Amino acid sequence: MAQEDVFKKLVAHCKEYGFVFQSSEIYDGLGAVYDYGQNGVELKNNIKKYWWDSMVLLHENVVGLDSAIFMHPTIWKASGHVDAFSDPLIDNRDSKKRYRADVLIEEQLAKFEDKIEKEVEKAKKRFGETFDEKQFRETNGRVLENQQKWNDLQARFVKALNDSNLDELKQIIIDQEIVCPVSGTRNWTDVRQFNLMFSTDMGAAADGAMKIYLRPETAQGIFVNYLNVQKTGRMKIPFGIAQIGKAFRNEIVARQFIFRMREFEQMEMQFFVRPGSELEWFQKWKQTRMNWHQALGFGSENYRFHEHDKLAHYANAAVDVEYKFPFGFKEVEGIHSRTDFDLSQHQQFSGKKIQYFDPELNESYVPFVVETSIGVDRMFLQIMAASYSEEEILSEDGKKDMRVVLRIPAPLAPIKLAVLPLMKKDGLAEKAREIIDELKFDFNCQYDEKDSIGKRYRRQDAIGTPFCVTVDHITMEDNTVTIRYRDTMLQDRVAISDLKNIISGEVSLKKLFAKL
Ligand code: GAP
Repeated sequence: MAQEDVFKKLVAHCKEYGFVFQSSEIYDGLGAVYDYGQNGVELKNNIKKYWWDSMVLLHENVVGLDSAIFMHPTIWKASGHVDAFSDPLIDNRDSKKRYRADVLIEEQLAKFEDKIEKEVEKAKKRFGETFDEKQFRETNGRVLENQQKWNDLQARFVKALNDSNLDELKQIIIDQEIVCPVSGTRNWTDVRQFNLMFSTDMGAAADGAMKIYLRPETAQGIFVNYLNVQKTGRMKIPFGIAQIGKAFRNEIVARQFIFRMREFEQMEMQFFVRPGSELEWFQKWKQTRMNWHQALGFGSENYRFHEHDKLAHYANAAVDVEYKFPFGFKEVEGIHSRTDFDLSQHQQFSGKKIQYFDPELNESYVPFVVETSIGVDRMFLQIMAASYSEEEILSEDGKKDMRVVLRIPAPLAPIKLAVLPLMKKDGLAEKAREIIDELKFDFNCQYDEKDSIGKRYRRQDAIGTPFCVTVDHITMEDNTVTIRYRDTMLQDRVAISDLKNIISGEVSLKKLFAKL
């Protein structure tokens, strides 16, 4: 199946099974804003817990924070967001559609990469076992030609970005003959900068109201609380502050479902270090974060690092963790060495000294910062994309059937256990309820008595429930049940009294932490 079709199915699945809904749907929706349904909110909470505990529980020098979304407007002046937090936009005059100029060029680069990969795949099939991929990449004419085109375009693109040269970005789009996907024409406007921050007025009187911004990142709430936390927590450098919270960006092009939203949630950790040690810590956090992703078991080949071509105004090193989505390798998380930029700026704009006295060095300095920043929603999409699977199976009566299964890692699954009475009568329903009453304080359980057992299994597979327990007549005699495992579909007969142990071993976050 084409990857685009897989993605369309995934989006439909998210809605059908109560994971993600379009915001304000009955009013025809609101662009790039989404709501999480009954299963989505559970998965989202579990992702947040996996991140939070891995930061705050597993690192004794990382503590949490929950800062307000509204902040003093000067913060955004100091951080550089008022002047520089913008994307280059371009309009197509015929379709009246708006695009990010840099994204159009990135998509063109991806086309060259695709062409190279297709050549390699073709050759792999042709030569089979004897295929020497390295040699092929270094010698094949079509691969080399596309690689050269990629190199030339990339070099020109990076220079234009670094020079903030908007005319050159437009010229690249023209020279590469990039067309609007809607109108198919090259009738482009000039490229202009567009600030991504939402603003609103705080205060009643129109003339006395203060223009404030909805935060575009949670990080600044951490920086302006650096002194509060350091002093009250008696924190010694190196130490980190972690925060989960909403962020808002007026994205020019919001596509690909919850990949790019206007209201989203971030999980950010700012790690304060001694000046000069930041690149060492950057490497350390880079690896720690990659391990966190790969502990989920979706295959290390589906992740890669992407070094930034253009560093943000505050960074001296930056890398993205990318995952292979159905629409290609894309950023899930950013790790940035932010230098002392933010704290120094706040020191200057607030007039308050923001420093750390280092007793070992016997001197004060503005700490340097290494940041890890990941979107909850993007992580959610990554997990859904990686978990979604359509499989051919044999149904109970031996016929070929299909099942859609979400192979969500058990510790993150929305529902851990479904309890299914084979039938409602003969006390089976009551027995099933008893089991739920016993386990509901430990796991998120669901009771389901409607339809055939096969249909009920399918429903649980579709939301990623790792365990289904069936209560039948034998249960009434000996207090045993059948437990069915989502991934293998195998079944065991076990004592009700063993259920808690069997399940807790699989669904505990400790299982993931053990791999970190
Ligand atoms: N404090 C640094 C910062 O905000 P960023 O690379 O702009 O860095 C970090 O964002 C992460 O936030 C991204 O890797 C992505 O997961 C998520 N993110 C950013 N913009 C987003 C959007 N419009 N919709 C959903 N997630 C977004």
